[in-house]
Amino acid sequence: MKGVILAGGTGTRLHPMTKLINKHLLPVGNVPMLHFAVQKLSEAGVRDILLIIPKLSSGLFIEYFGSGAEWNVRITYRVQDQAGGSAKALGMAEGFIQSQEKFILLLGDNIYEASLSGYIAAFERQTAGAMVLLKQVNDPHRYGVPELDGTVIKRIEEKPVDPKSDYCVTGIYLYDGSVFDKVSSLEPSKRGELEITDVNNLYAAEGTLKYDVLQGWWTDAGTPASLVEAAARVLRENE
Ligand code: G1P
Repeated sequence: MKGVILAGGTGTRLHPMTKLINKHLLPVGNVPMLHFAVQKLSEAGVRDILLIIPKLSSGLFIEYFGSGAEWNVRITYRVQDQAGGSAKALGMAEGFIQSQEKFILLLGDNIYEASLSGYIAAFERQTAGAMVLLKQVNDPHRYGVPELDGTVIKRIEEKPVDPKSDYCVTGIYLYDGSVFDKVSSLEPSKRGELEITDVNNLYAAEGTLKYDVLQGWWTDAGTPASLVEAAARVLRENE
C-alpha cells in the first residue's frame, strides 16, 4: 500500500514561528516533526510515499528526507503552492495513487506510539470505503468528533461546541480509490477550505466509514502546548 503525508498549511496556531519555517519542520526532540510520519510508514512496510509540501521551506524538506533511502522508502514530492485546505492537498495525490488503489493518508502533525501495520492489514481486508482511527481525548472540541453507530461512523462534526463523544478522529485515514471523486464533489467550508472531514462524511453517508481505536498515546503537535507535549512524550519514550 502507498502512503501520502500532508505537510502543508500555514500553521497559524504556531505563528509567528511558522512564518519563518513550516510547522512540520519544527523540532520534536532532536528531529523535525515530519520525521515521525515517514518513520511510521516505513516501519509498517509502506515503501512509496508522497509528501505534499508547501513552498515555504520546500528545500529543507528535500535536504532532510532526500530520496527516502535512509528510511528504506521512495519519496515523491509535490508542492502545494496555493492554500485551500487539507482535502485540496489530498486531491493532489491523484495520479500518484492509481484509480481503485487503496492508500493511507497521514496528517504530518500527529505523533503517536502505535505501529500502523495492524490497521493497514485490517483495511486491506475491508472490501470498500474508508477507515479512520479514533482516540479518546479530554478536549474533543479541538478536533473532528465522530458519532458512532456500531462498526461504522454515522457522521463527524468538525470542532463541535457541544461534542457528542469524547473521541476524536486522528489524522490517520485509509481510503479506497473513490476518494478523488469525493474530493472533486466538495464545496468549500465556512472558512473557505476543502475539508478532510467533509470527505469522510461522504463515506459516512454511504455507510462505509469504518473505524478502529488507536492504541497507545497520541497527540497532535499543531499548537504551542501540544508541540511541547509531543516533545515530552518522545523524550520519555527514548529515555
Ligand atoms: C485536523 C482535522 C480534524 C482532526 C485533526 C487531528 O484538524 O480537521 O478532524 O481531528 O486534524 O489532528 P486541524 O489540526 O487541521 O485543526
